[in-house]
Amino acid sequence: MSAQEKKTQLESQLSPVVQQAIKLSQTATEGRSFRPLPSSSSFSLIDSDADVKAQWGHLGLEAISQGKVGVILMAGGQGTRLGSSMPKGCYNIGLPSNKSLFQIQAEKLVKVQQLANEKFGTTDARVQWYVMTSKPTRDNTENFFKENGYFGLSKDQIVFFNQGTLPCFDKAGKQILLESKDAIAESPDGNGGLYKAIYTNGLLEDFAARGIEHIHMYCVDNVLVRVADPVFIGFSIENKFELATKVVRKRDASESVGLIVLDEALQRPAVIEYSEISKELSEQKDNSGLLSFRAANIVNHYYSVELLNKRITTWIDNQEFLPFHIAYKKIPCLNEEGVFYKPTEPNGIKLEQFIFDVFKDIPLDKFGCLEVERSDEFSPLKNASGAKNDTPETSVANYLKLGTKWVKDQGATLEDGDLVEVSSLTSYAGEGLESVKGEKLSNLQII
Ligand code: UTP
Repeated sequence: MSAQEKKTQLESQLSPVVQQAIKLSQTATEGRSFRPLPSSSSFSLIDSDADVKAQWGHLGLEAISQGKVGVILMAGGQGTRLGSSMPKGCYNIGLPSNKSLFQIQAEKLVKVQQLANEKFGTTDARVQWYVMTSKPTRDNTENFFKENGYFGLSKDQIVFFNQGTLPCFDKAGKQILLESKDAIAESPDGNGGLYKAIYTNGLLEDFAARGIEHIHMYCVDNVLVRVADPVFIGFSIENKFELATKVVRKRDASESVGLIVLDEALQRPAVIEYSEISKELSEQKDNSGLLSFRAANIVNHYYSVELLNKRITTWIDNQEFLPFHIAYKKIPCLNEEGVFYKPTEPNGIKLEQFIFDVFKDIPLDKFGCLEVERSDEFSPLKNASGAKNDTPETSVANYLKLGTKWVKDQGATLEDGDLVEVSSLTSYAGEGLESVKGEKLSNLQII
């Protein structure tokens, strides 16, 4: 079939879906009301005592030592704001070690397996790593892993799988854009495409074959991510949650972040975008003087495999759970004269599914929300150098600041303003750094 014929066919199939998605974008929160999640579903590592955290960490490491934990990395996005020609995970953010995001994350896995072995006297703790790519990111990602010897992991420990793509439309949602005379313009189907990708790529069978019961899912762009975080996994296991999400505390009422909330009518968890919350609600404070709506979404989840087995086909077959949303984007394509151009302003619509739309399927007592310290766990890379926030520079600064805090806590000394890089292979979350006690460390030293 020619691209033109495919275009015509897909237009007639998908135009109603796009029109519905446009309508949804205008009415998403109409008639809905929200409250903060009840305290029975929300826990905070900021306020909790060390014993609780240690108990969760113990449970999580135990599950890792038994091979019951799998990790899904979402790396299918096109990283258009960063503007790198390679997938985001390959990006050298500029650490003294020049490590890429993929390498930092792979080494976290190596380390957490080692910690699990040490704690439980095993030698074969293994976390299977499922890397979700998309058509635009697959080849470069896979090659990068190969060229770098899988960063110390075994090749068969890593499974690459693709999410789907969807055609891009013009701004009116009527015409599909062409990338060339022979190809329509397509883009990944959003982070919510994860569920269909898990199903169609046979991951459920793979989990069963390997005895995996718990999944940690995270996004590639967070330099501080604790991959296969034992504390988060243990938190979910102990509370028998089917789905859990990590959040950080919203900085102030005006921060542009999505929030984890309770949908009052459904009595189910939900996410509302920053553009959807009223000024009044966003500024509301609770008895402790904190913002009532402060659970900022960082797209970092726990899923029980039992839940995925039970519900995933219902989610992917049913637009009630995974409706399409629209995003106005700059989409390189042929113009009306048939000439390829790269727009400088949004010229079309990308269709996306949202990963959190399935939260409404989870009863409150099966859903957990864990607040973690932002400076310990979250610093996303979204924008190119020079932007106000979430740049390579902020990623490096936050990574170095955290490592520096760890070594200072252990009694190392540094000149004022000096920073060190702590390798993921040396420490997963601040542990194992006793040897720096009393040491004088130099600026940008790698530990
Ligand atoms: P973002 O929504 O920030 O998108 O993705 P992005 O692709 O990184 O960057 P922009 O918006 O084009 O500038 C957050 C995380 O979700 C993943 C990304 O790879 C990143 O880890 N993601 C996003 C997918 O895996 N697939 C998608 O379709 C979208």
